[in-house]
Amino acid sequence: MHRVLSVASECVPLLKTGGLADVVGALPKALADHGWDMRVLLPAYPGLATRLGKTAKALWTGKELFGGPAKVLGGTIEGLDVLLLDAPHLYDRPGGPYGDATGDHADNDIRFAALSWAAADMARMGLGDGWKPHVLHAHDWQAGFAPAYLRYGPETDVKSLITIHNIAFQGNTGAERMKALRLPAEQFTPDGLEYYGHLSSLKAALVTADAITTVSPTYARELMREDFGMGMQGVLAQRAGTVHGILNGIDTDLWSPEADPAIHAYSARKLGDKKKNRAALIDEFGLGYFEGPLAVLISRLTTQKGIDLIPETLSEFTWRGGALLVLGSGDPALERAMLREADLNPSRIAVRIGYDEALSHRMFAGGDAVLVPSRFEPCGLTQMYGLRYGTVPVVAATGGLNDTVIDATPAALAAGAATGIAFHPTDGLGLAQALRRLVDLYADKKIWTRMQRNGMKAPLDWAQSSGKYAALYETLMP
Ligand code: ADP
Ligand code: GLC
Repeated sequence: MHRVLSVASECVPLLKTGGLADVVGALPKALADHGWDMRVLLPAYPGLATRLGKTAKALWTGKELFGGPAKVLGGTIEGLDVLLLDAPHLYDRPGGPYGDATGDHADNDIRFAALSWAAADMARMGLGDGWKPHVLHAHDWQAGFAPAYLRYGPETDVKSLITIHNIAFQGNTGAERMKALRLPAEQFTPDGLEYYGHLSSLKAALVTADAITTVSPTYARELMREDFGMGMQGVLAQRAGTVHGILNGIDTDLWSPEADPAIHAYSARKLGDKKKNRAALIDEFGLGYFEGPLAVLISRLTTQKGIDLIPETLSEFTWRGGALLVLGSGDPALERAMLREADLNPSRIAVRIGYDEALSHRMFAGGDAVLVPSRFEPCGLTQMYGLRYGTVPVVAATGGLNDTVIDATPAALAAGAATGIAFHPTDGLGLAQALRRLVDLYADKKIWTRMQRNGMKAPLDWAQSSGKYAALYETLMP
């Protein structure tokens, strides 16, 4: 079996703040079907190491990892092969993986450079149990220095790949940090690690990894453009030959209405049973009577996600019979804006600020439609959960949203192929019009049921995409 070391800052079922964790957690299972043995390396955030239980084995040690001792504990958690980088001076602290209530941790550059350093060292030297990867697969800026450490250190035949989950997060830090982060000074050039006078861990990966992927074909194209590339479009264009857009899948073991323990089960055939979830959800949120579609939104509340466009559309949407349930957290001004809408119209709009995995399942099951009005969306998972649950997605036609939802145009409806509603460009008018179409389509039960069933039958699991990763790893092998 070939071996691959996946390096990331979050992973389901250990720790999740967004879609990155879903993807990192699902890949090992999916790749095993293609003969790839994947282990996932994560920081040992508080409480994680004990979850290894009796499977824990010390597999790597670093006497001095950026200011303190470190070791790697390997083992299994809920069937997943994990490696936890235990470095108390970096990871044993209160708060989330990136910061606490006062903001991001000030030493995040060191915290994730250390993860990347340890990853590169383990890849080059192998682990205590003899396991040595052929490929190092880094995810996002947090693992961005790993391909650079591999490239700039002693020669090795281990190949590296970086996956861009979101180019908006670049891991930028001061130029003066080169030395502290153990990077060779001569690499601080516009063709190397420099990014507009700063040091960027994401750019480090983009210039040193053997291959680059992002999480949808449309985003792979968008990234080359000035309006989406966020300053990295030039670097990416230079490496266009090795940039691949591989669409995320979803973990259907965790996300399937037929077998989801958080909901009343239903299937494409027995869609009637979805109504129980709808009624329970309306009850849980205390909404009043309404005739139109129940839209749900489960999201980070940020401008990336287009949340600021929603308030201006709500009076018409609710007047036409719709209702909206929101679960999310993020920008305080957007949280307040959503709460204000709920105050103004409590029988039609309800908002929960926070993060709640079980509630998200109940919302995907009970909603009629899921809103994803993103300005940019590398892949997006909530529209796919919506499709899987017969909860019709209403999305901005960008990135992975564009690749996963078939808009209900007259032609797509006539062909019986539509799975959702897509609008472009991402602005208030576009969203308002999309919500008008939602109300109209929902009113036509025959068309609506067809759209629901189409979405539920769409191939959204990892079968195809994991094959693409495996094929890409194979092209890197000597
Ligand atoms: P991103 O990673 O950019 O936030 P994705 O759509 O890829 O967007 O993934 C978001 C993931 O986080 C999904 O699994 C979604 O269900 C989940 N999620 C987002 N906000 C919440 C929340 N407040 N409570 C529970 N789950 C959430
Ligand atoms: C990022 C992106 C999101 C994508 C997820 C998993 O968080 O914002 O679009 O689905 O990563 O790849």
